[in-house]
Amino acid sequence: MTSATDWQGTVGRSWAQEWQRTDISFGELTPHLLAAIAAEPGRQIVDLGCGAGELSIAVAAARADAVVTGVDISADLVATASARATAGNVQFVMADATHWRPESGRPDLYVSRHGVMFFPDPPQAFAHLAAVAEPGARMVFSCFRKAAENGWAREIAGLLPPSEPPAPQRFAPGPFAFADPDHVRLCMAGWTDHVFAPVDFAYVAGAGADPVGEAMALFRRIGPAASALRTLPEPQRSEVEERLLALVEAHLEGGRVTFPAAAWVVSASSDHRNG
Ligand SMILES: C[S@@+](CC[C@H](N)C(=O)[O-])C[C@H]1O[C@@H](n2cnc3c(N)ncnc32)[C@H](O)[C@@H]1O
Repeated sequence: MTSATDWQGTVGRSWAQEWQRTDISFGELTPHLLAAIAAEPGRQIVDLGCGAGELSIAVAAARADAVVTGVDISADLVATASARATAGNVQFVMADATHWRPESGRPDLYVSRHGVMFFPDPPQAFAHLAAVAEPGARMVFSCFRKAAENGWAREIAGLLPPSEPPAPQRFAPGPFAFADPDHVRLCMAGWTDHVFAPVDFAYVAGAGADPVGEAMALFRRIGPAASALRTLPEPQRSEVEERLLALVEAHLEGGRVTFPAAAWVVSASSDHRNG
């Protein structure tokens, strides 16, 4: 589980400091998401949980006639995104997307790359987003499918000491919270006509001159190994680090460290008709 408080604190700060590496890790998914977004009309576009802003910036660059607003709950990530943006039609706002209201112009298209599965009360959040948008607004987002289908998560989890599973919670936020389409439909109160397009892609953990070093640097800060490496006492910490290095080396091929990853690109329409 990754809570809003985590994103406002250390997790958001790590993502802000590692934005080049996280953008590379999603590099093979992003074109699929951008293609799905390009097929949608929209002039007031809002990127939910925009993080360091790569998707917002790419959508704004592709659509000069649109205004893109990236909304994120992490001050560190909004500062990073704002510093990267140069185009006049993209802006970033620090806010909890589940209560955010547009200052002007109702959104007609919401987009998100792996942001919406972290909402603490998804039915409230999606109903609110439909209510503040244009009637019939569209939404396109990506999210991970099951952890078992995502080699990067499954294989890293297998290296870690067993931990107490969290108490079951119906709408627990987290990277795999939107893996099941039936559950996503339940979460998306106020939205209809869902389409779930599966995308299998290579999660690029490391590339460039030192792909193994890059992958280790990513996994020390982001993902399932990061908190274990931060909190485990010695010698367990060093043992995890050694096992992680062996795993990363085993996934080095063609100058990149990659792991199989599986996502949905989900699209839907608001069924809010009263404005
Ligand atoms: C996995 S990261 C994805 C970031 C970015 N979309 C990307 O693709 O790099 C999830 C993002 O959702 C943001 N987030 C989580 N809960 C949020 C909320 N209630 N309102 C706004 N942003 C939220 C986090 O701060 C984080 O930036």
